Amino acid sequence: MSSIPDATRFLHVVELGLGAWQWGDRFIWQFGQGYDEEAIREAFLASIQAGVRLVDTAEVYGNGRSERLLGAFLKETEEPVLVATKFMPFPWRLSRRSLLRALRNSLERLGLNQVDLYQIHWPFPPLSIETWMEAMVEAVEKGLTRTVGVSNYNLSQMMQAYATLQRHGLPLASNQVKYSLLDRRVEKNGLLARCKELGVRLIAYSPLEMGLLTGKYGPENPPPGVRGTRYRRLLPSLPRLIERMRQIGEAHGGKSPSQVALNWLICKGALPIPGAKNAAQAIQNAGASGWRLSEAEIEELDELSDEITQEK
Ligand SMILES: NC(=O)c1ccc[n+]([C@@H]2O[C@H](COP(=O)([O-])OP(=O)(O)OC[C@H]3O[C@@H](n4cnc5c(N)ncnc54)[C@H](OP(=O)(O)O)[C@@H]3O)[C@@H](O)[C@H]2O)c1
Repeated sequence: MSSIPDATRFLHVVELGLGAWQWGDRFIWQFGQGYDEEAIREAFLASIQAGVRLVDTAEVYGNGRSERLLGAFLKETEEPVLVATKFMPFPWRLSRRSLLRALRNSLERLGLNQVDLYQIHWPFPPLSIETWMEAMVEAVEKGLTRTVGVSNYNLSQMMQAYATLQRHGLPLASNQVKYSLLDRRVEKNGLLARCKELGVRLIAYSPLEMGLLTGKYGPENPPPGVRGTRYRRLLPSLPRLIERMRQIGEAHGGKSPSQVALNWLICKGALPIPGAKNAAQAIQNAGASGWRLSEAEIEELDELSDEITQEK
């Protein structure tokens, strides 16, 4: 790995974070059905208690509610918590100033003067990557964010962001992309390798493939709502992978499939940020850190994953 800039080193020390998309989202996650604010509060506090020190949110999650809840929960802990949030480049946001305005609104909801990581959520037009990165430089200069990240950027988009920041003497801290045992595009298209070379932290979102890798869903028991439709074709081959993950987890002192899925990502050099709807899920996910799968186990899981994803 290349040298990691001092300013972004903290992100490389963190093994695992907590995702906060579930906090208030009704459309995909059905907030209010089966879990509520109190369950999320407990998930947050349990994560902190278990040693998780990074929370990932976004201005669009629950329409601001996720940031507002995080702001309230932060007041309940003395522990230092790293906060990452995101800017959505909506098509009506047509100037650099809109990023600073959005960041100030996020900070107000979070009750903070500065976030640790501010990310561009998607590489959407019409404004160029360079323009948003220049706005990010201003946000760092004003002390509103400690570091700059991107999300859902492909290799060439990430390089554009990297080069623009570099011209201003700033490092690109991270690229947050979809990565799990059931979606290994970043391994195959070179993005993960390039991130390692550049010292850019690859943050893995949907690391449990939206719940599929927890082992609780299958062809007879699909996930509810939109997820059921989205994963219809993958579900029939899933039990084979889950069964092997269970066996591997057993050999590590009774680790669950979720913990194996997250540890596999840690072993690959990514930073997974699983979402949790309650304390039990949060505690289990936190147990994915602090140990390692063997090389042989990783290889075997890679092969099984290839077989299954090619079948769908
Ligand atoms: N940058 C982006 O564009 C982007 C996109 C997506 C996500 N993200 C970030 O990544 C985070 C994580 O991704 P994600 O939320 O899509 O999916 P995920 O972490 O792969 O899956 C989370 C879901 O799995 C289930 N679950 C989690 N832990 C469990 C456990 N131990 N046992 C049983 N079930 C468990 C819960 O849902 P059920 O109980 O309902 O199954 C939970 O809501 C998000 O919160 C967000 O911060 C970013």
